[in-house]
Amino acid sequence: MSKLIAPSILAADFGNLQRDVEMVNNSEADWFHIDVMDGHFVPNISYGMPVIAAIKKHAKKPLDVHLMIEKPERYIEEFAKVGADIITVHYESTVHLHRTLTQIENAGCKAGVVLNLTTPVSVLEDILPKCYMVLLMSINPGFGGQKFEDITYNRVKKLRKMVDERGLETRIEIDGGVSNKNIKALVDAGADTFVAGSYIFKSENQIETIKDLKALANS
Ligand code: DX5
Ligand code: ZN
Repeated sequence: MSKLIAPSILAADFGNLQRDVEMVNNSEADWFHIDVMDGHFVPNISYGMPVIAAIKKHAKKPLDVHLMIEKPERYIEEFAKVGADIITVHYESTVHLHRTLTQIENAGCKAGVVLNLTTPVSVLEDILPKCYMVLLMSINPGFGGQKFEDITYNRVKKLRKMVDERGLETRIEIDGGVSNKNIKALVDAGADTFVAGSYIFKSENQIETIKDLKALANS
């Protein structure tokens, strides 16, 4: 499976959002990763539909929208309308997960589930065939720039086993503290899709950083 890089717009310069979107367009990145935070599910507030619509206007690659909000089922259609291509919801945020994923599919998007850092991957057993992707958090969600947690490697291995045993094509995405120091080990553990925020946007040459990450992931 080809390895994908999804720069996290949370780390972009919001005063120069169009410039940063064009940078991603012109890079080897595959998706835009867009973090929506509501100040309830996570202790931070980011941005919502108008900002996503503005990104969509310039984006030439799919929008991977990561909802860190309580009861995401209230807003699925609105996120689809402003241009989300993939929508992931936290297992911990919605009571009727199967119904919420169906809602995402019916809105014309690909559906995925996110697990917090220590939510056991075994909870995915029954929902896995319905997931286009599973996103494993490698930090406590809410903020960029945090340290990658090493417990992630074992979690990826367990999830990779579950996916392969079922003969599924489910993508395994990692989010939080991803850099050149851990991406290869994450690929070896079985991950294939990588969010990176501060590592990309704080670097001198963002285009080169994306290129290097992608090369490492595919090495
Ligand atoms: C945090 C977000 C991440 C964040 C990652 O809750 O889900 O997508 O932007 O940022 P870095 O790569 O800086 O850890
Ligand atoms: Zn995210």
